[in-house]
Amino acid sequence: MSVGTHGYPDAVTGLFVSFEGGDGAGKSTQIRLLAQWLEAAGHRVVLTYEPGDTPLGKLLRDAVLHGDHMGPRAEALVYAADRAHHVDTLVRPALERGEVVLTDRYLDSSVAYQGVGRGLGAQDVERLSLWATEGLLPALTVLLDIDPVAGLARMTGEPDRLERAGDEFHRRTRQAFLDRAAEDPGRWLVLDATAPPDDLAAAIRARVAGLLGR
Ligand code: TYD
Repeated sequence: MSVGTHGYPDAVTGLFVSFEGGDGAGKSTQIRLLAQWLEAAGHRVVLTYEPGDTPLGKLLRDAVLHGDHMGPRAEALVYAADRAHHVDTLVRPALERGEVVLTDRYLDSSVAYQGVGRGLGAQDVERLSLWATEGLLPALTVLLDIDPVAGLARMTGEPDRLERAGDEFHRRTRQAFLDRAAEDPGRWLVLDATAPPDDLAAAIRARVAGLLGR
């Protein structure tokens, strides 16, 4: 089992991987496929997501996605509060037990959606999340990149507050993910989400295998 290089205390021995990308990019499918492969190889895997995968997080998720109007700063703080609690009560304990944690969205979503999409500034929003998580960054972030119009067309059900933010907003968030990935290729794996799911899964496994064998 490998040790993430970003902001982990030495005692943390698990592997932390996040999945990012627009809505409808197929993150949940790829997370499931990766988890099956890891479990078959004998790893203990925790599947989780943001916002909302804790009791407090469920309240915050409902408020931010389905509540009344919320300004951009309040929105950024709610996502950060969810993340702080998620890391403190679920992610870090699992990593300390040496498990593999796969999360559907993490801090880079806040940088892309609130920092760039809402215009709050990428640096400020990143700093807020790093404060919230005491600096915990994934060892690997998989970006499933997709044209936002194509991604939203793959979605079913009523759109939430963020999905209703408009094409221009979603174009900015997509570009923000791509720019961030280009700045730190050691942490990111960028994939074209329209590729066949089995090909995407193979590319993700190859990268994760490298981290596990390190
Ligand atoms: P998600 O759970 O991925 O959406 P769904 O359940 O519809 O698949 O995320 C909900 C929305 O929240 C999504 O549009 C992206 C947005 N989001 C942010 O704006 N900032 C964040 O920090 C996170 C984690 C998500």
